[in-house]
Amino acid sequence: MAIVIPSPLVGASQNLGRARIVRVTDREIRAHNGRVGDLCVRIARQLGMTPSEQRVLARSGLLHDIGKLGIPGAILHKHDPLDDSEWKLMRTHPEVGLRILQWAGHFERALLAVLHHHERMDGSGYPHGLVGDAIPIEARVVAVADMYDVLTSDRPYRRARTDREARRILEAEAGPHLDPHIVSALLQTLDNGDSRPAPAFD
Ligand SMILES: [Fe+2]
Repeated sequence: MAIVIPSPLVGASQNLGRARIVRVTDREIRAHNGRVGDLCVRIARQLGMTPSEQRVLARSGLLHDIGKLGIPGAILHKHDPLDDSEWKLMRTHPEVGLRILQWAGHFERALLAVLHHHERMDGSGYPHGLVGDAIPIEARVVAVADMYDVLTSDRPYRRARTDREARRILEAEAGPHLDPHIVSALLQTLDNGDSRPAPAFD
């Protein structure tokens, strides 16, 4: 399947696992994806997942927003609120990401995280409106790690929240939107200060 990727967002390619994946040139997007991958691994350890499962989570976090390669930069980096048509386009990024990874091949369950990381526990998310445990565990982990990193990072429209504020917001989101068990795991690993590196990719 042909995947059209806007050239301003595409730089060199890099080896990741067994596939070659295009690399986003925007420094902050890369940094965000890396931090989400690290947080996913820390959560996975806290949940007692195996090294193999941790590697899947590392890939899931790193690649969760790869579908944004298919979203115009004017929308991705817009300072003002998105209008309805722009949101409609933005909300396609999980499915675009799935197609990109299927084209690249060999990411197994990380595909599920890419496709479902914007689902919500009460079914109000997208793209499929999955509810509770029907949302793949990898996607539920990415959702928590992603929200924490977004909250604690500067955005064009606001300053980063403090760790304390971010924790309070995550706790409020636990239940309707986020998996409470996973929110709890994140808060525990933050308290523990686990900074061990992720297991190496296969
Ligand atoms: Fe996303």
